[in-house]
Parts: sequence; C-alpha cells; structure tokens
Amino acid sequence: MKRVAILISGGGSNMLRLVEDMQGDHPARPVLVASNDPAAAGLARAAAAGVPIAAVDHRGFPGDRAGFEAALLEPLLAARPDIICLAGFMRILTPDFVSRFAGRMLNIHPSLLPKYPGLHTHARAIEAGDAEAGVTVHEVTPELDAGPILGRARVPVLPGDTPEALAARVLAQEHRLYPAVLRRFAAGDRRPVCL
Ligand code: GAR
Repeated sequence: MKRVAILISGGGSNMLRLVEDMQGDHPARPVLVASNDPAAAGLARAAAAGVPIAAVDHRGFPGDRAGFEAALLEPLLAARPDIICLAGFMRILTPDFVSRFAGRMLNIHPSLLPKYPGLHTHARAIEAGDAEAGVTVHEVTPELDAGPILGRARVPVLPGDTPEALAARVLAQEHRLYPAVLRRFAAGDRRPVCL
C-alpha cells in the first residue's frame, strides 16, 4: 500500500476528493495533509476525514524559503510518504525540495499545460479567446508547472464566461481527474489519463 501526503493552501476540495477515493481496493492511503497556512479550511476537513494534519506557517520564515521547507520536511518525512500530491498548494518549492521527491510528487494545475503556467489561468484563457480550457495533473520537476503530464481534462469556454464561472467548470473536472490519475500512478502506471 502506497502512503500519500497531500499539501494544500486553501479549501482543499481536491484533497478531499483524493482522500475519499483512497479506500477499499485503492493502492494508496492518505497519511498526512499539511498546509503552509494554519487557517487553511482544508485542514479541518482533512481532520474530520480522519487524516493526520500539520501546518507550517510560511510567514514565520520571511525571505527564508529553505528554512520554511526544512520546517515543512519535519512532519512530511515523519509521515514516510511514497507519493506527495500538491493540491492547491500555492508556494513555489525549491529545486532542492523537489529533487528529494523526484518522480513521486504530483501537482494539479488549472489549465491545459503547457498553456498558462503560473497564476490567473482562467482569466488568461478568456482573454486569449480560447475555445477550451481545462486542467492538468503533472509530475513536479524544478521548473514551474512543466513536468511530465499524467492527465488532462478539457471544458469549453462559453460566451460571456467570467473567470469565476470558468473556474467552477474546470474545478468539477479537477475533482474527477486527480483521483483517476492518483489511482493509476499509485499502481505504478504512468500513462496519462484523458477525461
Ligand atoms: C484548484 O483549482 C487547483 O487547480 C489550483 O488551486 C485550486 C485549489 O482548490 N491550483 C493552482 O492554481 C496551483 N498553481 P482546492 O483547495 O479546493 O483544491
């Protein structure tokens, strides 16, 4: 059975979908949900689901990314994860941190990568006049939002869409895609999932 740690920064709706899916014949189990924000609503949701939680406030390490990551590593390594899932984790991780977990850290990003790495993906897709948008799950490598793609799902961009409306349409697909990718990845299968 693979051990999965999930890193979040906010509401944790993707985290919850992953946790809910890791039951029964699933090849993995959640061992930790950790956040850089002690007030992240997802922490309480994880605790209510019976998953151990940890918080390391990045604001306690101004200008010291390495110090923050060293503090984050303590609960993370103690949980002995085989796989780490970033699920709405909004801190950029250093190459040092990423390379510790090479080939076993996943991220979900709300665009059809390689389009629109970084922030404000939905506004950028609307602004560009794109006919479709979507979500990507990929392996984390030192370059931001650029690792091998493990799954994508597409949605239409509709006339009059606001970034919020498009985000909601994409999020519904995120909730289908991430569990499907993790299930496959934890079983040792890295072929991309296409929904
Ligand atoms: C999700 O839309 C996720 O794709 C995005 O943050 C949201 C978190 O929602 N992630 C990124 O933008 C990463 N750069 P959640 O906390 O409800 O899962």
